[in-house]
Amino acid sequence: MIISSSSDYREAARRRLPPFLFHYIDGGAYAEHTLRRNVDDLSDIALRQRVLKNVGDVDLTTTFFDEAVSMPVALAPVGLTGMYARRGEVQAAKAAEKKGIPLTLSTVSVCPIEEVQQAVNRPIWFQLYVLRDRGFMKNALERAWAAGIRKLVFTVDMPVPGARYRDAHSGMSGPNAAFRRILQAMTHPRWALDVGLGGRPHDLGNISAYRGEKTNLADYVGWLGQNFDPSIGWADLEWIRDFWKGPMIIKGILDPDEARDAVRFGADGIIVSNHGGRQLDGVLSSIRALPPIAEAVKGQLTILADSGVRSGLDVVRMIAQGADGVLIGRAFVYALAAAGQAGVENLLDLFQKEMRVAMTLTGAKSIAGISSDALVKS
Ligand code: FNR
Ligand code: LAC
Repeated sequence: MIISSSSDYREAARRRLPPFLFHYIDGGAYAEHTLRRNVDDLSDIALRQRVLKNVGDVDLTTTFFDEAVSMPVALAPVGLTGMYARRGEVQAAKAAEKKGIPLTLSTVSVCPIEEVQQAVNRPIWFQLYVLRDRGFMKNALERAWAAGIRKLVFTVDMPVPGARYRDAHSGMSGPNAAFRRILQAMTHPRWALDVGLGGRPHDLGNISAYRGEKTNLADYVGWLGQNFDPSIGWADLEWIRDFWKGPMIIKGILDPDEARDAVRFGADGIIVSNHGGRQLDGVLSSIRALPPIAEAVKGQLTILADSGVRSGLDVVRMIAQGADGVLIGRAFVYALAAAGQAGVENLLDLFQKEMRVAMTLTGAKSIAGISSDALVKS
């Protein structure tokens, strides 16, 4: 199969993965309006072509907090990544290191913190949810710190898991789910041999390490529902901010008032995000939520954004609307599922090329040089 864009990787992932996994990745909450808006609103933003600007070599490098990156992109935390490719979190971390950007490891990764961090020299970032079991949270933070991790992404938009219609139909959840997943694995033998058999153990590595017993993946969705904690507010996060000595980045901000709250709380960064359209269907796309947030807090903390980014052009759009950098979720996961570490490296190469073209033709020499001038004023 010829690969020239992230949509080619999506198609390759669709063929390779058992449907319950493909739809879990690809789908969103309820009727998926926000999921579609994330992508459509980004592509609706017209770039402003400016030629003969003597741009020369464009420079994609920047820093996230104190960390130098080869381009303003990080890999987003994605649960169960080790189910999409053999020891998937390790492969993704190696690709990110090779390309000079960070990987964010999800709380609900298959590979535990130590396995992933020991495979690479570049410190990864760690994402934590608010879980009922505060002992687990503290243990995860201690282990992340001991492994050398310094950037904490704290996800706040999952006090309850959003209902995903596709999961019930695909076998991720719903009646006879376990049986249906086995049938799907049998009809996807490349995945079944490489990942299903070769990629074991398949459990939630961080949680098993804490509990000292294997966490059953069969009831992953049920586990999420039981363990997320809707009864929290900013005050409950203070102990984490005091406990964690590195930068703390709050993920899941969609409103300027909440961005101001994050500044007051003392966060070092925010991620403007609707969780890739996987939580509250009907909320604004990230790209539309971003400008008023940037207006409210720009310069007071680092503003990262995600949801809907599928190309280097989208990265430029996000930055032109006020983000300092971007996270990518599905785009890298499709590439990982299709072609492992090499797929993610190639995807990141494609993003770099796309960014170079977009910057050259909008007249921006550097990341700091990307401004709203790169966009047609609507
Ligand atoms: C996610 N996301 C996510 N976020 C998080 O904080 N912790 C997690 O464990 C997960 N898990 C997860 C699984 C899958 C399959 C997807 C697609 C997403 C959300 C993720 O970090 C990011 O916000 C979105 O993926 C961004 O949207 P795009 O780039 O996928 O459109
Ligand atoms: C999801 C969770 C795991 O989006 O964050 O599926």
